[in-house]
Amino acid sequence: MAPEALGKAATFSTKAPYHRKPPPARLTPPQIPPVTLPPLRPSHAAPLRQGRLFYNNRNVAFAPYGEYWRQIRSVCVLHLLSNKRVQVALGKKYGVGSDFKEWLTEMAVLMGVVPLWEYIPWLSWTRRFDGVDERIMRVVKKINEFFEVVIQEHRVRERRESDAGGLDFMDILLDFQRENASHSPIEDDTIKAIIMDMFGAGTNTTLKALEWAMSELIRNPTTMKTLQDEVREVAGSKDEIGEQDLDKMPYLKAVLKESLRLHTPVPLLLPRESTQDTNVLGYDIASGTRVIVNAWAISRDPLLWENPEEFRPDRFLETGVDFRGVHFEFTPFGAGRRGCPGVTFAVAVDELALAKLVHKFDFGLPNGVNMEELDMNESRGMTTHKKCPFACYSYST
Ligand code: HEM
Repeated sequence: MAPEALGKAATFSTKAPYHRKPPPARLTPPQIPPVTLPPLRPSHAAPLRQGRLFYNNRNVAFAPYGEYWRQIRSVCVLHLLSNKRVQVALGKKYGVGSDFKEWLTEMAVLMGVVPLWEYIPWLSWTRRFDGVDERIMRVVKKINEFFEVVIQEHRVRERRESDAGGLDFMDILLDFQRENASHSPIEDDTIKAIIMDMFGAGTNTTLKALEWAMSELIRNPTTMKTLQDEVREVAGSKDEIGEQDLDKMPYLKAVLKESLRLHTPVPLLLPRESTQDTNVLGYDIASGTRVIVNAWAISRDPLLWENPEEFRPDRFLETGVDFRGVHFEFTPFGAGRRGCPGVTFAVAVDELALAKLVHKFDFGLPNGVNMEELDMNESRGMTTHKKCPFACYSYST
């Protein structure tokens, strides 16, 4: 199926994908003729509660589909994420010694809360007692105060080079605001919401993907050894592995893909909705029906993947399956117009971090824990976390 299918009519084929062995007989899907779905479009804004956490949906991920979303997404893609100089979000370590980190954690918790009143209107009276509104107001106020300080500091400071030696996200967005002030003014709240996106959508996901990959490698010593051999051969005695070295490390790329497949960091993609009435496999689907794609389940579907529960990076060496939204059986970064704009950035960060870790270090589990005992359970939430915190020891080779 072509990626543009998310925008136009999508045709699903029941044929097994070309790159996988046919499934065993008992798993053969029923013979259903190909179905034509109506065009899907990205859905409306996030529920009220999440919208309020992000400056009333002014961020990219929750902005309703339309002109505003198109503009701020292109600001992110063109000015923030394609800019090789951008290494840091805010230029220096803000929030050290303050409770900013705790407020961010509280925000993540509130994003995962599902108050009954949001879905069952007649229970709206419970809203007065569950305390969620108060917690939202408190966290929004604290985070806003923090951003006000950061914006003011960036505005007054004369030197435009950040501590890390380049422009940071805030510098770039403030420049953009100044340049556009006369014809299409950009509010400070929009800037704050975009920076929130970079934290919210960018950091946790990238970190968790790395954590899952390391956990799988420690549980699979043969895979770890193959990866270390590759990285050590390419990087040799170099002190620093560079992005150009990564292109010579196909196994490293396969390891990260396989980890993203098995532990899809964002299990449910952003909601879409159907644009016209239709009938799918005998079910009537009304126009405006919200469609939530479970990328996690698709990545583990035994009809699509051979031994899906096994961590086997080699499967990606044998195929050209990629995560950029072309192969719909593997969409850890989503697909279509609303697909993740940070994919290149995130993959580069994770590949580089993984390569650096296995280049100079060997790893083991503490306190005599066996590999089989390593807890791989996932916690619930918008991103898949390890239920038990991951701990390992490392020693330099
Ligand atoms: C391993 C890391 C990451 C994963 C697995 C990931 C995954 C995703 C997924 C699944 C979506 C929804 C796509 C859809 O529904 O089709 C998304 C959207 C988004 N991601 Fe990422 N992401 C990652 C890293 C990043 C980074 C580093 C940034 C930016 C610094 C970022 C920014 C965004 C934004 C702004 C959106 C919303 C796009 C829109 O609504 O137009 N992500 N991401």
